[in-house]
Amino acid sequence: MNFPDELIRFLRKAERVAALTGAGVSQESGLRTFRDAQTGLWTQYKPTELASPEAYENNPKLVWDWYAWRREAIKGVRPNPGHYALVDMAHQFSDFSLITQNVDNLHRMAGSPDVIELHGNLQRVKCSSCGQQAKDWDDADDGVPQCESCGGLLRPDVVWFGESLPRTELESAVEAVRACHVFFSIGTSGTVQPAASLAYAARNRGAAIVEINAEPTPLTEKVDFALHGKSGEILPALLDAVWG
Ligand code: OAD
Repeated sequence: MNFPDELIRFLRKAERVAALTGAGVSQESGLRTFRDAQTGLWTQYKPTELASPEAYENNPKLVWDWYAWRREAIKGVRPNPGHYALVDMAHQFSDFSLITQNVDNLHRMAGSPDVIELHGNLQRVKCSSCGQQAKDWDDADDGVPQCESCGGLLRPDVVWFGESLPRTELESAVEAVRACHVFFSIGTSGTVQPAASLAYAARNRGAAIVEINAEPTPLTEKVDFALHGKSGEILPALLDAVWG
């Protein structure tokens, strides 16, 4: 795989680097993205009927079951070479921040330290009433399992459409973007705010933007380097070209 010399030179010198990932990085692990034309989850399901506070209020059992199905679907799913390359990047750059929109836990499973999870994590469940995280629950429950402390209904600890992002994670992401010399946008369509705005914020502060994606996105024409293809192939090859 060939990369522009300028990119290689740039990465060799870069100290502070941030990366934002999306569903595309987990595609090669066998997980479905959201917006790919034939296979994306949102081509089959309506986000407003499954991933919003209103949907949960109207039919908590339907929403709970959909997330239970997604939790089940990621059992046995393993990180791919793209996830592992991002673990390596944390060791190669003196300051590396990994920000993800993914809720699949694969970056942590691969061994990435300090993952900033902007949209929560499918493996966690919390009370919809008091917010306390649940330690245990039964997916086979006929209804929606209840909170041990207050009896409220449990819900996945993920961010739904119309909800705010967790404050600490958002602050960490903004801080990483402020400080970075290079910003990678990897496997994301860049259509969901506020995550999508991070690349533009980094660009406005003078960072070089590198996009790695299967296809062009709205960000592509604004980036310094656009690498089109699978992140599980491009990332390891890029690391090899820079430090191999
Ligand atoms: P999308 O499904 O919108 O975008 C995935 C992107 O990855 C697309 O541009 C694909 O072309 C690209 N892609 C697919 N396979 C790839 C591969 N092997 N290597 C590289 N790129 C690949 O997913 P996200 O951008 O993550 O939010 O979606 C953002 C948010 O929208 C999600 O976090 C979720 C969703 O609704 C919530 O649920 C709040």
